[in-house]
Amino acid sequence: MSIIILILLGYLIGSIPSALIVGKVGFGIDPREHGSGNLGGTNAFRSLGKTAGIIVMSADILKGALAAALPMLSGVGVEYALVAGIPAVIGHCYPIFAGFRGGKAVATSAGVLLFVSPLCVLTALVLFVLTLYLTKYVSLSSIVGVIWVHTYAILWGDKPLTFATFLLVVFIIYLHRQNIERILNGTERKVSWI
Ligand code: G3P
Repeated sequence: MSIIILILLGYLIGSIPSALIVGKVGFGIDPREHGSGNLGGTNAFRSLGKTAGIIVMSADILKGALAAALPMLSGVGVEYALVAGIPAVIGHCYPIFAGFRGGKAVATSAGVLLFVSPLCVLTALVLFVLTLYLTKYVSLSSIVGVIWVHTYAILWGDKPLTFATFLLVVFIIYLHRQNIERILNGTERKVSWI
C-alpha cells in the first residue's frame, strides 16, 4: 500500500462522524445544533447523555487506533503509524462525511497515541482526570493532556513522536481557542459529574 493511500484511508477513517451517527440514529439529534456544536465525545455527553457520550468517545478513540494500525495491518510497517494516524485526526476535525465540521482532535489523537505509545496515553489520562477533578473543565484537561504527551515524547527521545505531538499541541490549542477565551472570561462550561 502506498503512502498516499495510507494518508487517504487514515483521513477517511477519521472522517467517520461518530457523534453525528449516534446522535441522528439513536436520538434524532444533530449534536452540532446543541451545546458547543462540537462533534466530539464531550458534546455528545452534553447533548445526548452519558451512554451516548461513552459510545462516541470510544468510537473516536477506536478510529485513531485503527488508522494508526493500518500501516502494520497492510504490511507497510508499524513505523508508519503516524503517517495514517495524523490524517485520521485531521479527518475527525474536518470530516468529509459531515460538511468538514467535526470534533476537537482529543479522543482520536488519544487513539493514535494509544497504538504508538500506550504508556504515554495512560500517563496523560492520569493528568487529564486530575485536571478535570480540580477544574471541571474538559477543554483545559485536554490541553494539559496534549502538552504532557509532547513532553513525554521529548523525554523519551522519540523524534517522530516529538514532531507529531508538537503538531498536535499547536492544532489542539488552535481548536480550543474559543474554550480558552471562555476559561479566561469565566464562561466555559464545567462538568458536574466528577
Ligand atoms: O475534546 C473536546 C473538549 O476538550 C472540549 O469540547 O464541546 O466543550 O468544546 P467542548
